[in-house]
Amino acid sequence: MEKREHFSKLGHVLVAAGSAVGLGNIWKFPTLAGQNGGGIFILFYLFFVLVVGVPLILGESTIGRYAQKGPVDAYHNIAAECGQKGFSLKFWTFLGFTGAFANFIILCYYSVIAGWILQYCIKVLLVPLNEMDMALFGASISSYVTPIVYALVFLAVTIYIDVKGITAGVEKCSKFLMPLLIVLLIVCAVCSLSLPGSIEGVKYMLIPNTNNAVNAGSMGYVALAALGQCFFSLSLGTGQMITLGSYLGKDSKLASQSYGIPAVDTGVALLAGFVTLPAVFAVASVTGIDPTSQTGPGMLMYALPQSLYAAFGSTFGTIIAFLMFLLVCFAALTSTTSMVTVTASYLEEYKHVEHRKATIGIGLGVAVVSVICSLSNTPLLDSITFGGMNIQDSLDWFISNLLMPFGAFFMCVFIGYIWKAQNAIKEITNDGTVKFSWATGFKWIMMVVDPLIILVVFLSGIGILKF
Ligand code: PHE
Repeated sequence: MEKREHFSKLGHVLVAAGSAVGLGNIWKFPTLAGQNGGGIFILFYLFFVLVVGVPLILGESTIGRYAQKGPVDAYHNIAAECGQKGFSLKFWTFLGFTGAFANFIILCYYSVIAGWILQYCIKVLLVPLNEMDMALFGASISSYVTPIVYALVFLAVTIYIDVKGITAGVEKCSKFLMPLLIVLLIVCAVCSLSLPGSIEGVKYMLIPNTNNAVNAGSMGYVALAALGQCFFSLSLGTGQMITLGSYLGKDSKLASQSYGIPAVDTGVALLAGFVTLPAVFAVASVTGIDPTSQTGPGMLMYALPQSLYAAFGSTFGTIIAFLMFLLVCFAALTSTTSMVTVTASYLEEYKHVEHRKATIGIGLGVAVVSVICSLSNTPLLDSITFGGMNIQDSLDWFISNLLMPFGAFFMCVFIGYIWKAQNAIKEITNDGTVKFSWATGFKWIMMVVDPLIILVVFLSGIGILKF
């Protein structure tokens, strides 16, 4: 087996948290919570992080560390070792490939949203804070050229970092910038919570109300949205954690390594929820606008300036808003660079394409799809819809609610029935030398509980099972 360079304990957590914490937490989580009934969505979400997210992070990291390879080779080698041949061996190898593919597609629309945030870094310096409303956001994303330019600039920075191989340097910066992001999120959450009327938003977030779920679609629909978000936010079912695990040394402690990531990730998501939803409700109580009609994409770009303006006035408020958008861009960057890494390592390890060529090739491919995604928010392409969603949102739905659950479902089946849970547990416990208190739970979770949860939630989310 070829020797890999290994991460330090902190290095692994930092890179993994860098991949996990991003627009999924700060942008998508509050948006989905707002659209899917608030408290009931969050309750589902927390349940899934605990019961599905934690074991899956552990499972993926274990596969990676055992094989010391990226997802395609890891699945292929372990399956071959377990005697899989012919179609079965091809299927497991294909599962690794779907991860690389998911990373590629996510990058296409993620760059567009990151471009919006980048655009707002500048906008916040030019437009008075109290005039930054949803109409401004709508206009900013639906013009033909500007959002494309920002998306491509963001993508170019990502590709530059990956080509130069300075992702490690960028991750080192996250040692300082991630805590700063968290501190600023806390400041913004306090501002938002201190607005008169914000309590309604807090209630909406914290009190699970099944009627809200029914209004959002159905319980099954909300549950699938929460499960999909859990996968998206933790970068699961995309081979991210397999790749990161492959850089762990054999003496690392897999179980304890994998608790920190969901903890930080969920903390940041909840904080971002407290920044946005209470502010949207507070402003709505003044304007009389139905807050749930404001809880959609772009809510952050509206809530943040409003609450910072109320708390700090225009000058200081603008500085904080600017810093905040900049840090969100940085968080997005640590996610996009790792998406490129996983996709490129597939081309490099499996198709023997040279690093620079692979990375630039991916960049060009993503650029084309990003332009289409961006245009799907404009009159030119917004009439092309799937299930009521434009191209960009459909891609996101397809990845989060279909491809990621698919990858995760079969990862459980792989551990439970092909590699066998006891072999995974042997790896987790470093051959029985490290304590793993919920080993039996892990076995049943992989074999029965999680495949069943994923299947039931998926079938009810697409309307085949009714709740
Ligand atoms: N988890 C990242 C976020 O929350 C998104 C991501 C998904 C990154 C899949 C890599 C792979 O923003």
